[in-house]
Amino acid sequence: MALYSEKVMEHFRNPRNVGVIEDANGIGEVGNAKCGDIMKMYLKIEDDVIQDVKFETFGCGSAIASSSMATELIKGKPVSEAEKLTNQAVAEALDGLPAYKMHCSVLAEEAIHAALEDYRSRQK
Ligand code: FES
Repeated sequence: MALYSEKVMEHFRNPRNVGVIEDANGIGEVGNAKCGDIMKMYLKIEDDVIQDVKFETFGCGSAIASSSMATELIKGKPVSEAEKLTNQAVAEALDGLPAYKMHCSVLAEEAIHAALEDYRSRQK
């Protein structure tokens, strides 16, 4: 049995939304101390809707695929919906991840939540 689903491989090979948003109004950076992988998310939010999202991930293939899928799941969505994004939803959208790679999807959830938190704190 293949270790990774076709979708994981596809997002790893052709990650969506890679890069930086210069005028982002929500930025989140997280890391996993165990594996050393780092993920940075940039959000451009207008009228409480995620108009654009980009990421930079220095990490494993699953982390790249998870970042890519996570950005696809929240692009064009209201902030309130993006806040509900879970790593489970990211992994499911990728047709699953091996158990020992689930923490890679957690990193994506955390990066998005950190960016949303940053956005919220800038509103005050
Ligand atoms: Fe750490 Fe994938 S091995 S994020």
